Amino acid sequence: MLYQSIKVELFRIFDTHKKRAMTMASGRIALISGCSSGIGLYTALLLAKDPERRFKVYATMRNLEKKATLEHEGKDFLCESLIVKQMDLSSEESVSSVVPELITKEGKIDVLSK
Ligand SMILES: NC(=O)c1ccc[n+]([C@@H]2O[C@H](COP(=O)([O-])OP(=O)(O)OC[C@H]3O[C@@H](n4cnc5c(N)ncnc54)[C@H](OP(=O)(O)O)[C@@H]3O)[C@@H](O)[C@H]2O)c1
Repeated sequence: MLYQSIKVELFRIFDTHKKRAMTMASGRIALISGCSSGIGLYTALLLAKDPERRFKVYATMRNLEKKATLEHEGKDFLCESLIVKQMDLSSEESVSSVVPELITKEGKIDVLSK
């Protein structure tokens, strides 16, 4: 009886993680700048918290010292559907460092918001 319940629970956990991994793998990649406040912050949170987990969000800001609100509001999604990075759109060097890194890792960018 106990063995059967453990087996059922293990299958349930395996199935949950498999579905989640598949959703994340087929998820859309979003790169959003200006995420320390305002529209950028709320767009990043909205996509990262999508109940269907359709997005993996790279939320960027010029100054990471201002990341507290984003990390607090999105704490349950950090390192999963919400990744915070430093990027300054007015700096070619900064953009040229972040974008190729992201494309190498994810293979694409589906959503771009600034
Ligand atoms: N809020 C509204 O209802 C609304 C409606 C229509 C239009 N808009 C317009 O949409 C834009 C964004 O509005 P918002 O409410 O999101 O504004 P916000 O909170 O003042 O700014 C959003 C982001 O813009 C970036 N930013 C601010 N000043 C900058 C500068 N000098 N150089 C580069 N980046 C800068 C910051 O990015 P970092 O995170 O990198 O610091 C900040 O997080 C504004 O132009 C606003 O006029 C807003």
